[in-house]
Amino acid sequence: MKDSTIYNCNVFELPKIHNQSGNITALNNLLDVPFEVKRVYYLYDIPGGETRGGHAHYDLHQFLIAASGSFDVILDDGKNKKIVHLDRPYFGLEIVPGIWRELLNFSSGAICLVLASHKYEEKDYIRNYNSFFEMKNK
Ligand code: TYD
Repeated sequence: MKDSTIYNCNVFELPKIHNQSGNITALNNLLDVPFEVKRVYYLYDIPGGETRGGHAHYDLHQFLIAASGSFDVILDDGKNKKIVHLDRPYFGLEIVPGIWRELLNFSSGAICLVLASHKYEEKDYIRNYNSFFEMKNK
């Protein structure tokens, strides 16, 4: 968690089964997603102008997909920041543990699909930016 950087967070192009009647993307544990998925959740009905996230995790790996619409993800490792724009359902952003993230600029009707390596545990969250910054820069 302490040594992870934004450069460990990469966008993966996902397999797409193309069909005239529509496309399919199938994700297999440890094959298309770089960790074992224990939980799937999605953000939807996000009001215009809203920001989500605003925290880091000690152990959780996540994989974010713009299943519909688009949004931006700001990644911050306490030293460097980068912005990733997700706008296709066949791209996935891996977020490793120890990265502060904010999700913003959601388009109307956007759906953020999240694959996660662990079940929900509040004690895995770091919700105070100053504590996060100190941990990363100790
Ligand atoms: P949080 O992860 O802080 O939301 P976001 O990062 O999208 O802004 O979660 C918001 C609330 O939802 C928080 O009270 C915890 C709850 N929650 C669950 O109960 N289970 C879950 O799997 C998730 C992701 C959140």
